[in-house]
Amino acid sequence: MVPSRDEREAAALFAERYGRPGSDATRDLERLVIGSDFGANGYTTMAQADLLVERLDLAEGKRLLDVGSGRGWPGLYLAKKSGCGVVVTDLPEEAMRTAAHRAGSEGFSDRAHMVVASARRLPFGTATFNAIVHTDVLC
Ligand SMILES: C[S@@+](CC[C@H](N)C(=O)[O-])C[C@H]1O[C@@H](n2cnc3c(N)ncnc32)[C@H](O)[C@@H]1O
Repeated sequence: MVPSRDEREAAALFAERYGRPGSDATRDLERLVIGSDFGANGYTTMAQADLLVERLDLAEGKRLLDVGSGRGWPGLYLAKKSGCGVVVTDLPEEAMRTAAHRAGSEGFSDRAHMVVASARRLPFGTATFNAIVHTDVLC
């Protein structure tokens, strides 16, 4: 399937963004505004992520897919907090590398996997996941 124009533009924009290290100021701002420190590019707050754990019934043994996770927010947070397994996906490799590093440094890389993939053609079979989250994904 040919990438859409929106998808190509998103990939280029976010590859550039995820390739840049965040500054202390942007991390401080992120902590203040949404409560996370992932280098987030969306507006899911920590309080909303905590609600997702409850509402999606995330727990050990469940599998979550985060489409357009960027550097791993909120998918990695949800997995760490709930004990579920997670696959985070996005278009830029830079984002997936950062997410892999984070899961490793926080000690749960055995249940956190990163896949570079388009939301238009996800490489998973039906009924692979118990829950799916996504943030501003363009198709
Ligand atoms: C607003 S950002 C949110 C990223 C992350 N969830 C967060 O909150 O920081 C949207 C993300 O969706 C990704 N995205 C947009 N369209 C996509 C598509 N068609 N397939 C996969 N990822 C896509 C972008 O690369 C970007 O990382």
